[in-house]
Amino acid sequence: MKYHKSFYQIKSNEEIFSKIVKEKEHIGYYSLPFQETKEIKEFAKRVKQKHIVVVGIGGSSLGTFAIHHFLIDKENDKKLHFLESTDPIDLQRRIRKIDLKDALFIVISKSGTTIETISILKYLSSILVLDSSNTICITEEDSKLNSFAKSKEIKTFDIPKNVGGRFSVFSNVGLLPLAIMGLDIDKLLKGCQDIYNSFFEKEDYYSIIMEKARFIVENKNRFNINVIFSYSSLLDGFNKWYVQLWGESLGKININGTKQALTPVGLLGPVDQHSFLQLIMEGKRDKTVTFIKIEDFNDDLTIPNISLEGLEELDYLNNIKFKNLINKQADSTIQAVEDLKDIPYDVITIQSQDEYNIGKLMFTYELLTSIVGSFVQINTYDQPGVEAGKIILKKSLKKEK
Ligand code: PA5
Repeated sequence: MKYHKSFYQIKSNEEIFSKIVKEKEHIGYYSLPFQETKEIKEFAKRVKQKHIVVVGIGGSSLGTFAIHHFLIDKENDKKLHFLESTDPIDLQRRIRKIDLKDALFIVISKSGTTIETISILKYLSSILVLDSSNTICITEEDSKLNSFAKSKEIKTFDIPKNVGGRFSVFSNVGLLPLAIMGLDIDKLLKGCQDIYNSFFEKEDYYSIIMEKARFIVENKNRFNINVIFSYSSLLDGFNKWYVQLWGESLGKININGTKQALTPVGLLGPVDQHSFLQLIMEGKRDKTVTFIKIEDFNDDLTIPNISLEGLEELDYLNNIKFKNLINKQADSTIQAVEDLKDIPYDVITIQSQDEYNIGKLMFTYELLTSIVGSFVQINTYDQPGVEAGKIILKKSLKKEK
């Protein structure tokens, strides 16, 4: 991944850097890139089931989905499923696609009591026997889910207490299912390590990330919507993960009592240039845009050299590779935005579709979120707004009994 171009100005960032250096002593996600992966890989190798089912929501599934969706064609003969929503139709639709006799259920919940996850776990327990042969749990060591697992002798993997849900993708939460799917988790972590080292050793990514965070913060009252415009459908999951990471981490009241309004939007280039782009181009100037491109799709699918009757004037498309078409679409949109001169944008280019590059991208965004959070003086790692709804739901469900 490399940055092509930036609209942002560099200023002194020493104070924020020192805060982040201090913060990394007690916030666990910073050290995840350097963890030992032997146990995960050994466990992954022993998994015989062909259907791998992640049961979890939010930070317990979105990151895994993002990486898997990006790399899906590199997987082995296994199929990865996600059960997260309490929508009854969707849930049954998804379960119908699973060979229940040949499935490994990975129940993931840091708190161990999330209503969606436990409701699905209960439903699954009613349609099949969940035991040590077909289930594992990933949770905090003293959670109620951990007690459930122990009572059934189900193997558990830990989520460290100081790693927040939406920052947990590079813990067992993401690494275990991804390793089972045959993905190279060491390469993934290498991408994170390189960003970590570059940032903390004040090399390239120090100024890239600081510069971007600073611009966002300095202009947050005018440009309060942060759009990611990904020119690859492979980044659909990344977009969703970004929306959670940014929204749940930064949508807060800061220590001065000011509500922070930074609003994430995740779009897919080829599709959304037929919809949301209009709003970017001619709507209110309240958005920053980050375009993400893939330099090498490593795929030569080509528009065939054929003429279609009545459509001969589009024959200029003949023989164009789709990978070149999509990148030209990206470049044309970027040029159109550049021409307007009043929309702040930058471009991230991912070199290729592999573990290393998605690791780099996601760790960059984790760091960026922490730094923006630090600039705007909020607690990046809590989510009181989300908790409030959970408490009301629990009360109202209990009342109905
Ligand atoms: O980032 C967060 O903390 C949340 O999005 C959680 O990941 C989400 O609520 C799921 O929580 P849990 O893992 O406890 O089931």
